[in-house]
Amino acid sequence: MKSLICLFLFSLTSLCAVAQRVMPNIDLPPESPYDPDRPPPSFHKQNRERLLSMLPDSSIAIFFANDLKVRNNDVDFLFRQSNSLLYLTGLYEEPNAALILSKFQMPFRNTATTELMFVQPRNALMETWTGRRLGPEGAMQKLGLNAAMVIDSLRPYLFETLLKTYRANIKRVFLSYPAKDYADSDGDLARLVKTIDEELRKDKSLIIQNASPLLGQLRQVKHPIEIEMIQKATDATVAAHLEAIKSCEPNMYEYELAAVAEYVFKKKGCEYTAYPSIVGAGENSVILHYNTTRKKMLDGELVLMDMGGEYHGYATDVTRTIPVNGKFSPEQKLIYDLVLAAQDSAIAQCKPGNSFRAPHQKAVEVIAEGLLKLGLIQDKSDYRRYFMHGTSHSVGLDVHDPNMAILQAGQVFTVEPGIYIAEGSPCERKWWNIGVRLEDMVLVTENGARVMSAALPRKTEEIEALMNEKGIGNIPIK
Ligand code: GLY
Ligand code: MN
Ligand code: MN
Repeated sequence: MKSLICLFLFSLTSLCAVAQRVMPNIDLPPESPYDPDRPPPSFHKQNRERLLSMLPDSSIAIFFANDLKVRNNDVDFLFRQSNSLLYLTGLYEEPNAALILSKFQMPFRNTATTELMFVQPRNALMETWTGRRLGPEGAMQKLGLNAAMVIDSLRPYLFETLLKTYRANIKRVFLSYPAKDYADSDGDLARLVKTIDEELRKDKSLIIQNASPLLGQLRQVKHPIEIEMIQKATDATVAAHLEAIKSCEPNMYEYELAAVAEYVFKKKGCEYTAYPSIVGAGENSVILHYNTTRKKMLDGELVLMDMGGEYHGYATDVTRTIPVNGKFSPEQKLIYDLVLAAQDSAIAQCKPGNSFRAPHQKAVEVIAEGLLKLGLIQDKSDYRRYFMHGTSHSVGLDVHDPNMAILQAGQVFTVEPGIYIAEGSPCERKWWNIGVRLEDMVLVTENGARVMSAALPRKTEEIEALMNEKGIGNIPIK
């Protein structure tokens, strides 16, 4: 009898263990012990469910981690996870991972699943050198995945289990990896991805499709949790710009302003910059994505600062242009005020139902009209000589996130008109090397829009007043 009870208890415990494995608690806190405000497993679970519901019958989708990339010799660039794994799993720190989502039940241990993750195995030696790993059990328990295996099982599982035993269930395979991320990489995952891609394409009756458009569609409207992350990135970035504006003075170097901003991003919890900081003074203010930042900034020049932090995977994108000496010259102010007027008119176009192009069209109208009045162009259609980029792009996990056609509540994008008059332009010399961009983050709401970076002043008087103050970049360092 006693042994029967023991047996019963034993079976019950092992049943519970199985149940626990296949039905993880997705109300778990985020996986990291250090960043409790990361999006929780329930958010990622919901994203997987939404993606699964978009997949056609008889299909699977495979998403890959980013690869490590060599910077020089045995030093890698700082690892940044792929957007697909961030969005669908919340795996931040680990490379060498993948996720299969399936329209049919895939076998896993003694049960079945529509989601199966592949992660690095636990390895005491590697973990001593490069950091802790979740391992498959940790991926299930901490990320709330139904099923997980080691990454070395991906290829055999795909080709020897799914595509042999379950071939009748699979007509289509969606693959999600930005090809350019792997093209120049010879990392472990890049090799695996290339092999899987080639092997899949040998079966001519299998339809291979890019999964990125599906993810792109999902990522256009932001979940409230994502809006919170973007707002945190933006708040950190506003604080960073304020310090940079206050710190700026003649004879400082462009990189000093970048350093001030990047310190504040990190101080406020951002893990990275969302893109390399663009700080260009004088002749560099007219280079749209100048990120060399080595020039000494001189009295009388403008400096364009396009700098944004990345908070728990989410980007922001903010630009201010200021006079290095704290006072706009008459020509600088004329161009600045024109860009400001264009930005105001463009922001007024940000409301649900409007076309994504509407803010740009308005900015173009204002700038073309203004340049004509200032005598900088003789024909309105020549505005492109000085305003050569679009006014808006979506922002989310990428600083250039998938764009939309029609605006709707929950979308986040930039409004960033600019005028860039390079030396040698066909106009009076007094305009040369004036480059001005103003860039703010806009969230479309039910009734209109909210400027997420509104706390950062834009008017010339406000900028000049701020520049009378000192910032952290003015603290002498021995
Ligand atoms: N910071 C890059 C951009 O404004 O698009
Ligand atoms: Mn931008
Ligand atoms: Mn920008």
